[in-house]
Amino acid sequence: MTINQVNELLPVPSGPLEILALPTGGSNFTDAHTVSIYFSLIVPTYNECKNVKTIVEQLSKLLDGMIPGNYELIVVDDNSPDRTWEIAQSLTVEYPQLQVMRREDERGLSTAVIRGWQASRGEVLGVIDADLQHPPETLLQLLAEIQRGADLAAASRHVAEGGVSDWSVIRRFLSRGAQTVGLIILPGVVGRVSDPMSGYFMLRRNCIAGKTMNPAGYKILIEVLGRGNIRWIGEVGYVFQERKEGESKVTSKQYIEYLRHLLILRFARWPMGKFVRFGIVGFSGVFVNMAVLYVLRTYLNLELTRSLIFAAELAIISNFLWNDLWTFGDISKRQPGISQRFKRLLKFNTICLMGLILNVLLVNLMFNVFGMNEYLANLIAIVAVTLWNFWINMKLSWRVTEVD
Ligand code: GDD
Ligand code: MN
Repeated sequence: MTINQVNELLPVPSGPLEILALPTGGSNFTDAHTVSIYFSLIVPTYNECKNVKTIVEQLSKLLDGMIPGNYELIVVDDNSPDRTWEIAQSLTVEYPQLQVMRREDERGLSTAVIRGWQASRGEVLGVIDADLQHPPETLLQLLAEIQRGADLAAASRHVAEGGVSDWSVIRRFLSRGAQTVGLIILPGVVGRVSDPMSGYFMLRRNCIAGKTMNPAGYKILIEVLGRGNIRWIGEVGYVFQERKEGESKVTSKQYIEYLRHLLILRFARWPMGKFVRFGIVGFSGVFVNMAVLYVLRTYLNLELTRSLIFAAELAIISNFLWNDLWTFGDISKRQPGISQRFKRLLKFNTICLMGLILNVLLVNLMFNVFGMNEYLANLIAIVAVTLWNFWINMKLSWRVTEVD
């Protein structure tokens, strides 16, 4: 590239939203786009013509002081009507470490960030807003967290030194409300950081390399936490600034997209294979129950209640054995021995008996209070109790405790 030429626009990646691992092998890379560097920072833009020059100047000054020549800025613009991409591209003459991507066929904050990461060369991938609401100087503390060994470093408004400038009560309520809904639907993801709504963070590429992303809406951090392999998370407090130019693109649609995103991740993390096996085993238990009941009543002439209890108990034991060998076999073989198995049986039994009680309560509620047909009520209760039995058993009886 001769000195006063602008950088070409980056080609826009298409296809699956998968970030690749960096090319390994010799250091004699030929193509400028394949030389790996330390840090790639994505700046997603939509109608930021008044902010883009300032943010590029501030970021370049900051990063030239910390990692000179070892970073790149990638503005990913969604064909802004105010031609932000064109202004950004003109800046590449003065800031050669700046690259610009103009997307014309795809739109959205989260996918813009991922496409930027796909086109990037950094070992560490970051994202920052273009509108100066995320203070650039926080980058230095985030990079320090990564260099301390964190897999992901997030700027948070909800830790010491964090906060928002003068957000309206409504915006604060909406932000905290969204976080609470996330904690209910996806506690294992949203609960890992104090500010899951943050759009200001960085992470090691290898934590998400090879994972296909499927984000919806604005919350890229939740997507990364939900699909990435992230163990150590560092957080840095920052004060979310007031916008000086342009306006926020957050609309009520983003909140609906956020809910959809949570549900997509919820079911992506739901172990469907195990759930199907658990359902098949549970269904087989119905036959065991009926067969034992038939034998006890017909050949042993045992009175009804005791026959029902014996039949239910034998069905529970049969279900346990099948689940321990087949559904959760991969987990139980890591916890060998009779006493461990007996402990699992006790937990399984207790949970199933609680499920029986739950079943009776639900059927009575639907039948007596809502006047629902008893067989439909029982069917709904069976489905609800199967979900309960599966989830609680997976979390308690066959819990996978990651041992470091
Ligand atoms: N490429 C692209 N495409 N960029 C977008 C789009 C889009 O569809 N929508 C917004 N952006 C860019 C904006 O230009 C800005 O740089 C950044 O994404 C954030 O957009 P805002 O509209 O300013 O969002 P906000 O300020 O209300 O909320 C931001 O901060 C919150 C707290 O960190 C967002 O980053 C939220 O995700 C975040 O929770
Ligand atoms: Mn903003």
